[in-house]
Amino acid sequence: MTPPNTAKRAAAYDRIETLRKEIRRHDHCYYVKDRPEISDLAYDRLFRELADLEAAYPDLITQDSPTQRVGAPPLDELTKVTHERPMLSLDSITDREEVLAFDKRVRRELAKELGREMESEAIHYTVEPKYDGLSVELVYESGRFVRGATRGDGYVGEDVTINLRTLRSLPLTLAAEADPPAHLAVRGEVYMKLGDFQALNRRITERGDEAFANPRNAAAGSLRQLDSRITAERPLVVTCYETMARSGAPPPTHWAELDSLAAWGLPVPEERRRCDGIDAVLAFHAEIEAAREQLPFEIDGIVVKVNHRDWQVALGEKSRSPRWAIAFKFAPRKEITTVQDIVVSVGRTGTLTPLALLKPVEVGGVTISRATLHNADEVARKDIRVGDTVKVERAGDVIPAIAERVPVPDEQRAEPFRMPEACPVCGAAVAREGAYYYCSGQAACPAQLKGALEHFASKQALYIDGLGKKTVAQLVEAGLVRELPDLYELTQDQLLALDGFADKSASLLLEAIRLSKQATLDRFLMGLGIRQVGQHIAKVLSRRFGTLDRLAAADRNTLESVHEIGPEIAASLESFFREERNRRVIQRLRELGIRFEEPGVAEGRARPLEGKTFAFTGGLTQLSRDEATRLVEHSGGRVTSSLSKHTHYVVAGRDPGSKLDEARRLGVRILTEPEFRSLLEPS
Ligand code: IVH
Repeated sequence: MTPPNTAKRAAAYDRIETLRKEIRRHDHCYYVKDRPEISDLAYDRLFRELADLEAAYPDLITQDSPTQRVGAPPLDELTKVTHERPMLSLDSITDREEVLAFDKRVRRELAKELGREMESEAIHYTVEPKYDGLSVELVYESGRFVRGATRGDGYVGEDVTINLRTLRSLPLTLAAEADPPAHLAVRGEVYMKLGDFQALNRRITERGDEAFANPRNAAAGSLRQLDSRITAERPLVVTCYETMARSGAPPPTHWAELDSLAAWGLPVPEERRRCDGIDAVLAFHAEIEAAREQLPFEIDGIVVKVNHRDWQVALGEKSRSPRWAIAFKFAPRKEITTVQDIVVSVGRTGTLTPLALLKPVEVGGVTISRATLHNADEVARKDIRVGDTVKVERAGDVIPAIAERVPVPDEQRAEPFRMPEACPVCGAAVAREGAYYYCSGQAACPAQLKGALEHFASKQALYIDGLGKKTVAQLVEAGLVRELPDLYELTQDQLLALDGFADKSASLLLEAIRLSKQATLDRFLMGLGIRQVGQHIAKVLSRRFGTLDRLAAADRNTLESVHEIGPEIAASLESFFREERNRRVIQRLRELGIRFEEPGVAEGRARPLEGKTFAFTGGLTQLSRDEATRLVEHSGGRVTSSLSKHTHYVVAGRDPGSKLDEARRLGVRILTEPEFRSLLEPS
C-alpha cells in the first residue's frame, strides 16, 4: 500500500484499516463462529463506509480488503497448479471390526518402528467429521492468502484462488497477533450447508435451470467456476483440517495443530474430539451418526487420525494414503424400491415437476414414498418409467432423489414418461423453456394461486398465523380468494361457511390477517414471491431502497450496483415490476390498507433497538416467537438463536431452558416478557 501523503488521505487510510479489521472480525464471528455480534444493518453500514472510502481513494484498495470478495471477470480456463505436497486420500472402512483392525495395525507398526511394546498402550486419536465436499489447498505467505487450488489428481489441481477469495469464512489475512508461520499451506474442505443448498436449488429451478443433485455437486460446481462472481453468490463455506506444509516447527500433536490453525483465524472442525483409545473412537462414531440428521451440513463418516506427530511420521504413508489416518464411513443412505407412478406437481411459480411415487422404503431412518425427478430431461436421462426398480438416496434435500435405475433381467417396461400438454391442475396450456415446463395459467391456476398464498402467509413473509396449506386450499377451492388482495376482504360469514371453522377460529384468522397489514418492506417483498428474492435478498433490497416505489423504479444498472444483487436477480425484479398484473395486485393491497413502509423509513425512522441482539428462551404468553422476532426486527434489533457475551438481552418466558443459566453465566441482561414488551413500546 502507498504511504498516505496528505492529512485527509492519512485519515482515510486509518479509517479504512480500522473498518477492514472490524469487518474481518465480524465475518469471522458470523461465518466461522456462527455467533454474529452486530445486526446485518450495522454490518452493511461498515461495509458501505469502507466501499465509499475505497471508491474515493482507489489506490488504497488492497487485495485482502473485504470489498474484494465479490469476484472478478470470467477466466478462459482454470490454470493448473502443482501442490506443495501430494494431496493424499484416505483408506475407508465401514465396519467396527475394520476399525479395531486399524488400531491393531497402528499398534503393531509403531511397536516395530519405535522398538517397544505397544500392546497395552492406548493410541491417542483426533477424530473429526468427514465433510462431504471437495478438498482444497490454501496457501498463505506472510499471513496473506495467496493461492488456493482444488485437489485434482492429488498432484496437480486447478487454481481457484479468486473463487476462494469470495468465501467469507476464509480469512484473507491470518491473525498477526497469533504469530502465524511465514509460509503455510493447509488443506480443508469446501462445502455447502444443507439449508443453503436447498435454497440455492429452489432459486435455480425457479429460473428454469437444472438443480444440483446434492450439496457436494453444488459445492464443486460453484467453486470450479470460470466466473468468480457466480462463486461469490453461492453460499460456500470452508473448514480446515490439515497442515500440508509450513515454515517453523509444527506442534507435537494434530490436536494442537488444529488449535493453532484456529488461533490464526482459520475455521477448523467444530465437532472434533480427542479420543484416548479406539473405544472412544467407536463411541464418537455412534454419537455423530445419531446426530447426523441434525447437523447443518452433510458428512459421510468420521476421519480418525493418530494424534502424535512423531507417531504419524513413524507410521508414514503409502503411495496414495497415509497409514496414520482412516475414514470410518457411515452405512450408505441408498435403498432399492419400485416406482408405482409418476405424477406431475405444479409449484408456486407454475413449474411442472415430475414426481415418482414409490413403494415406501426406509432410507437412513426416514420412510420415503416420493422422489423428485426434477424435470423432463432428467426423467429421460435416467430413463425412469412406472414399474421400474430404482435406487433412492437422501442427499440432504427434503425431497429425496432417485439415484439410478436398477436394470432387471427380462424386464417388460412401461411406456416412457411424457410431460402433459395441459396443466394437470387447471388445464391451461403448458409452455416450455429448455428442460422446464410451465403452466401458463398464472393466478387462474389454483395450484399457483395456492402456492402464492401459502408463501405470502408464511412465517418469513407476512406471517398470517393459521393460514396454512389446508385453509389456503379451502379458500381457493371455495372461490373466496382469486388473487392475493382478496384475503383482506374475507368476512366472518364466509369463513364460517367453510368446513372446520367456528366463531372463534374464524375471528382468530381474521385478526391474524388484519395484523399482517402492518408489515415491513422486506417481509412484504419476500411475500410477493418474486423469483430469486428470498428472505436475505429481500432484506438487502429493502435496506438499500427503503420504499417499494424506489425499488420498482430502479433500472438494471442501479439494481446490479447493489452488493449481493447479480444480473439474474436484477432481471427477475425488473420483469416482475414490469408486469401489469403485479402492479395491480400491489396497488390493490395498498388500497386495502397494507402498510409495508412506514413514513420516513428511508430518512431514518426511530429504531429504538438498533444494533441490539436478543435471544429468547421459554414460551411467551402474549406473543408467539415469530411475532416477537418481527417486533424486534421492526425496531431495528436482531434475534439470534445462540448466546454469547455480546448478546444484549435474553427474554425469559415460561419454562426457560438452559439459555437462562448461560445468560446468567455470561452476565447477559435477562428480561421478563412484560419488560420486553415495554422495551418495544416507543417512549
Ligand atoms: S484428512 C492425509 N480430514 O475426505 C489426510 N480429510 O479420501 C488427508 N475429508 O479427499 C485428508 N473431511 O477431501 C481429512 N476431516 C477431514 C476430512 C477429510 C473430509 C475428505 C478429503 C479427502 C477425503 C478422503
